[in-house]
Amino acid sequence: MHRRLIVPSALAATLVLAIPASAANSSAGAPGIGDPYYPAAGNGGYDVSHYDLRLKYQPQTDLLEGTATLLATATQDLSRFNLDFGLEVSEVRVGGRKAKFTKEGDQELVVTPVAPLAKGSATSVVVRYAGKPSQLKIGGWTAWHRTPDGGVAAQEPDSAVWWFPSNDHPLDKATYDISVSVPDGSQAISNGVLVSQSSRLGWTRYNWRSNKPQASYLATLAVGRFDITTEKTADGLPILNAYSKDLGDTAGAARASIERTGEVAEWLTEVFGPYPFNALGGYVPNVTSGYALETQTRPFYSPRQFAAGANVSVVVHELAHQWYGDSVSVKGWKDIWVNEGFARYSQWLWSEKEGEGTAQELADWVYAQHPADDAFWTVAPGDPGPQNQFHLAVYDRGALALQALRNEIGDEDFFAILKGWPAEHAYGNAEVGDFVAYAERVSGKPLAGLFDTWLYEPSKPAAPAAAEARI
Ligand code: ARG
Ligand code: ZN
Repeated sequence: MHRRLIVPSALAATLVLAIPASAANSSAGAPGIGDPYYPAAGNGGYDVSHYDLRLKYQPQTDLLEGTATLLATATQDLSRFNLDFGLEVSEVRVGGRKAKFTKEGDQELVVTPVAPLAKGSATSVVVRYAGKPSQLKIGGWTAWHRTPDGGVAAQEPDSAVWWFPSNDHPLDKATYDISVSVPDGSQAISNGVLVSQSSRLGWTRYNWRSNKPQASYLATLAVGRFDITTEKTADGLPILNAYSKDLGDTAGAARASIERTGEVAEWLTEVFGPYPFNALGGYVPNVTSGYALETQTRPFYSPRQFAAGANVSVVVHELAHQWYGDSVSVKGWKDIWVNEGFARYSQWLWSEKEGEGTAQELADWVYAQHPADDAFWTVAPGDPGPQNQFHLAVYDRGALALQALRNEIGDEDFFAILKGWPAEHAYGNAEVGDFVAYAERVSGKPLAGLFDTWLYEPSKPAAPAAAEARI
């Protein structure tokens, strides 16, 4: 037997407003955003527009404590949702009210608000937490670099889990305010503009703002003892570079490279169009790892990048990513070529401009370097698989694909595409197929065959026409 609750219609309307999502119709947000390479990455059911991180870090003990406030909108009627996070959580509030939370596995925080969130409604999520990131091991390792004087978060495809709760996938970008308090004498380096810095009670607080959409893996934090230099670009944007005081013999080469950030950005602006963000720079912490990463507005450079002397080429690579990777991001991690193929090709263009070998010469050289039986040719840059996401083939064969495109359609259309693509998808996401379609549209030529050959065939392609003519 059904019991009916009879209410006057005006009161009924009020009830509808007061109970925005019925528990019966709402459901749990998915624990992953749906990326086949990394099923646990990101989450379903909501979209974050802004992260506000207010943190304190103790370099001696590696203790990170703080509060993250996320502004989010439910994309479905939502009874509960996940955040990607690994440190110890003491309290979660949703819309100001204490929420239930549990940890599932190493890196999923499951949050159940007191009442379901209605699709389309905006809310705040406050997470209070503490922990030692270097001790958080996921799959046996940590993305957090501990240094003698602090720590650094900079990893791809994933580093946020070690230092703040997020929807950890490039499909959900947001703006960031990152405020970090460190003992006087230490510095905290992060993304965007250093809005303010103040000292009290023996602690110095650094307030950083990145005001354009930013993927979670491109958020960075470095605490240590740094020398900081500041400049402005010709367009008036602030450049801030930070060098660990502990770089030893590589300090000169690091500076001689990264101090050219403004010059490189000016040249890339001619090739790719307007610089997409509010600040520039780079930082070199005293880490032992060897790579660099295009952390938004302020790339991370390992000192080993400068072990043999100045390396402006790596600066070109990481700054090229600000357009290709950071402003225009992958839709899924299988699309990594739309980042790395273009960042590598930019290095070839820089070499061409500097008179150190044209892109065609470098393409011919790379092509000849790898005989047909080299495993290099079995990796498809257009879908390399998670284990080969940063395989040399994604970079070098990926750049060969662009040289093949340039030879097929000519310089005029090729450079129109290099400049048009970052404008077409500014602050958004794109996949490999979107680029192929865009290149076909601009050039008016069918190009699916060319891209199949260079991005997907698991064997060494015949040399492109222009390269053949040269031999
Ligand atoms: N996107 C980075 C680059 O600029 C690659 C980082 C790869 N990560 C790593 N741990 N090797 O090339
Ligand atoms: Zn890269």
